[in-house]
Amino acid sequence: MDYQKKGIPKQTGLFYGADYNPDQWQHAPEILERDIALMKEVGVTSASIGIFAWTALEPQEGRYQFEWLDRIMDRFAEEGMFVFLATPSGSKPIWLSEKYPEVRRLGIDGLRENSGRRHNHCLSSKVYREKTRAINTALAERYGQHPALALWHVGNEFSGECHCEHCRLAFQNWLKERYHTLDALNDAWWSAFWNHTYSDWGEIQTHDPSIDALQLDWMRFVNDQHVLFMLNEMEPLRELTPGIPCTTNFMGTHESTNYWQWAEHVDCIANDLYPLPDDRKDTWRNAIRADFIHTMMRGMSGGKPWMLMECSPSSVNWGGINQLKRPGVHRQEVLQAVANGASTVHYFQWRKGRGGFEKYHGAVVDHEGSNRSRVFQDCAAIGAELKSLAPLGEHDCPTAEVALLYDWESRWALKSSKGPKVLKEEGPFASDLYSETCFDHYEALTQNGLSVDVVSTKSDLSHYKVLVLPALYFVEDALASRIRAFVEKGGNVVGTYLTAYVDSSNRCHLGGFPGAGLREVFGIWNEELDNLHDETRVILEGEVQGVARDLAERIHLEGASTLAQAASEFYAGHPLVTHMDYGEGSACYIAARLEMPALCAFYQHLREKVGLERTVACDLPQGVVFRKRKSADGTLGFLFNYTRETKRIGLGEGKWFAFGEPETIYAGSLELAPYATLTLRL
Ligand code: GAL
Repeated sequence: MDYQKKGIPKQTGLFYGADYNPDQWQHAPEILERDIALMKEVGVTSASIGIFAWTALEPQEGRYQFEWLDRIMDRFAEEGMFVFLATPSGSKPIWLSEKYPEVRRLGIDGLRENSGRRHNHCLSSKVYREKTRAINTALAERYGQHPALALWHVGNEFSGECHCEHCRLAFQNWLKERYHTLDALNDAWWSAFWNHTYSDWGEIQTHDPSIDALQLDWMRFVNDQHVLFMLNEMEPLRELTPGIPCTTNFMGTHESTNYWQWAEHVDCIANDLYPLPDDRKDTWRNAIRADFIHTMMRGMSGGKPWMLMECSPSSVNWGGINQLKRPGVHRQEVLQAVANGASTVHYFQWRKGRGGFEKYHGAVVDHEGSNRSRVFQDCAAIGAELKSLAPLGEHDCPTAEVALLYDWESRWALKSSKGPKVLKEEGPFASDLYSETCFDHYEALTQNGLSVDVVSTKSDLSHYKVLVLPALYFVEDALASRIRAFVEKGGNVVGTYLTAYVDSSNRCHLGGFPGAGLREVFGIWNEELDNLHDETRVILEGEVQGVARDLAERIHLEGASTLAQAASEFYAGHPLVTHMDYGEGSACYIAARLEMPALCAFYQHLREKVGLERTVACDLPQGVVFRKRKSADGTLGFLFNYTRETKRIGLGEGKWFAFGEPETIYAGSLELAPYATLTLRL
């Protein structure tokens, strides 16, 4: 799969702006005019407009009113600013949802939602598809040639599910296409269990938590249905305005959306991220999760620049405790995205609304309304800094030597399988076992000074030295063959607990785990999975030392050698980390969830063995990360301290030059204050 995108809109630097809701301020033209002046002061280049403006655009069915938007578009053009014009499907006008109840979702309980809220349209409703198409066509006809129009922002954060009759029928049809016959479906779904054998397609429900294969297929279907909905929205836009790229805003590792698939259909990658650092907790782990997500967006855009479409300049309003960002954190979050390939930084939101659910959500402009607020000044400083980084628009992130596979289908299959431990962590990021395992490995690799590319099951793997497969629970034969070929040709693969348990219908592989032929590649047989209570630790001894938690498998060597073994529990003496020479490469298996020091030690061992190059030649302390963006004109470096402590970095022989201040030279060693970020010219 080639994830190379058509590209973000043409620009001369980075895009900097916000979601902007002038539709809510039509009664106050002086505020709208003030907004333009404030935007110029902050260095705004662009805004996403109209995301929730459907009623303002079509107050009654079929009666459009665009005059307010005309004025905004014209003002933006006059000021040389761009509009990412939204299609308004993210929330429905009340007139629409009252007249056509089918556009409202039905819950698992069979109850239809009331009108209101947002992001809750039926995925299959013909009426909603027609209505969104109609308004999108009207927008494209009116603004297709407008000089301010740079991008179509289609819908908003598509997600969720509906269990109405339309969706049920669509699901049944989707299953017919997948399985062709009921016999094939019954076989794939292991339907004889608990009398679930179907004799008619119409008997199939949208929900049954006791049928693991149904759940997995339902998640696939819902994802497909969202993609179809989005494509239906894009069709008139692409037809009428072929030169304007279309995108939609992703939500990182959101559970129900397989963004690898979405990435194939958008013209550029856009993501929303709200890291919510909690300064009582491990700010480093939080930074790692954000870094992982940015890296994945880079992967989805084929290494080309992507867009951070939403983040908050201060607090959010929907967290448990909506803490303000500590000094340095806002700038650091913005530069973290930029260092990982973002060419756009947009906030939610430009101006706080006077009322409504988000009136206390962070914004560039506060209710006070002037340029005097701390956040406004912060945003203006960042705007100036991003302007100085304009050449970055041409810089790519260098390809890494290590690839890490993130696969939603494995995640879904694991989620719908009852038995393996379920993690109960709280927080804004998905904290399921699958994703946490991916974050663990990304953290340990990063801590080893390595840069990582996040890849999909379809990505080209040929140029990587190492391929990491955290908890790759679902493996079918085709993928297993690619993994085997990768190792045979000299690649080094790292597998973990829960590798290759099930096939595409969530049925267990027979003949011992890891299945699909990977038992031979790893040279081990995984006989049993021990799910550990939260407080239980398994001690590791050998070349890799430390402790493991949550899960440990009792495995046997079948050609592999032991790097570390259990030194506690009844399986003391059994291998927990193994190495196998296979073809011209190698395959390591990590059979338990290692705590970070042990996982870092494992990757240090691998790094030295394979001879992986670090992003920078010196040792970086825990919590400090170095990133690069390169172009023909040179390389820019970013050095981050993601922790609350001051960190000292020894530069060895190296010398670093501060970006934009050629007279500032770092040599010998340097100190990085808490949350400090340095930009460097290399
Ligand atoms: C996003 C959403 C925005 C806004 C923001 C608040 O998920 O796209 O419209 O609600 O959250 O943090």
